[in-house]
Amino acid sequence: MKKILTVTLNPAVDKTYTTHNMIVGHVNRMRTTENIAGGKGVNVTKILRQYGCEVAATGFLGGYSGRFIAEELERKGAECRFVQTAEETRSNMNIIADDGYVTEILEPGPKITEEELVRFMEQYEKLLDECGLVILSGSVARGIQPDIYAELIRLAAVKQVPVYLDSSGESLKLGIRTESGAKPDLIKPNWKELEYIMGHRIRGREEIIEAAGFLHREGILRVIVSMGSKGLISVTGDGVYFAKAEGIRAVNTVGCGDSVVASYAIAAVKGESEEQAIRRACAVSAANATTIESASIPLETAEALWNKIIVEKISG
Ligand SMILES: Nc1ncnc2c1ncn2[C@@H]1O[C@H](COP(=O)(O)OP(=O)(O)OP(=O)(O)O)[C@@H](O)[C@H]1O
Ligand SMILES: [Mg+2]
Repeated sequence: MKKILTVTLNPAVDKTYTTHNMIVGHVNRMRTTENIAGGKGVNVTKILRQYGCEVAATGFLGGYSGRFIAEELERKGAECRFVQTAEETRSNMNIIADDGYVTEILEPGPKITEEELVRFMEQYEKLLDECGLVILSGSVARGIQPDIYAELIRLAAVKQVPVYLDSSGESLKLGIRTESGAKPDLIKPNWKELEYIMGHRIRGREEIIEAAGFLHREGILRVIVSMGSKGLISVTGDGVYFAKAEGIRAVNTVGCGDSVVASYAIAAVKGESEEQAIRRACAVSAANATTIESASIPLETAEALWNKIIVEKISG
């Protein structure tokens, strides 16, 4: 298969600090700091590289933190095809205190100018000719309309390139009900995102399957609903599957959703069945939960989990 294209419109440098305690209005000295390239599409890129997939990454990067992200991705062997922004890429701070409190400080990220958006659209069209699958992940940057994913899906459909969409809020909603009628091939809402798309509360597994089935019948080939520690449900042309990893000691679940999306792309590259794909997604995302660093998955942990994943075919 041709290479995979990941799109991250609002990447971030994720900074993790540890400290004794954190007091608002005081000087807070940190004990350790660690910086890694983050943002959902960046996480997907890193996981795909760990599994040896050819990946091109695009979106927006600016300033020092932009260069930091590009360098990390290039070191991992991804092709960086980002558009440079005048404003600096955001940094997100996660402050972990010994007393158990975790404080997050999230920057809004750069405002994308019209000219930068035009350059991105040109770059995207060019990349569509080189890639066999597009993965759109995460929030939309400031200055960009929430219907951008709908447009990116339409452009990919014209060139018959399948698209996976993992987003939330309006950009997700508009991305699955596009005016052009083009649909993503796969979406991976979590429980809350599924409720948002459907516009009503969803209680329990039966109602998740009902909602996912509805979206599948609307034309999304694969609807994968993630339920955190409760596992995964997939509704596809091959029926309904449920998968769950038992006995996981989760230490950091950031990037678990991205692990699921990356796993489905890896399964597509390898030509795996729906059952194999959900098993892979469940093992890789559970392995991700067991490590402090997000999107850096110990392959041995994922392999060891493989046979411990419970996969159930519910119908179809
Ligand atoms: N505590 C956990 N124990 C075991 N597996 C987990 C745990 N948390 C997440 N996972 C695995 O990761 C998958 C995705 O997690 P989740 O539903 O939290 O995604 P998400 O809400 O999209 O996360 P994010 O967008 O922050 O990456 C789950 O379906 C499950 O397979
Ligand atoms: Mg998610």
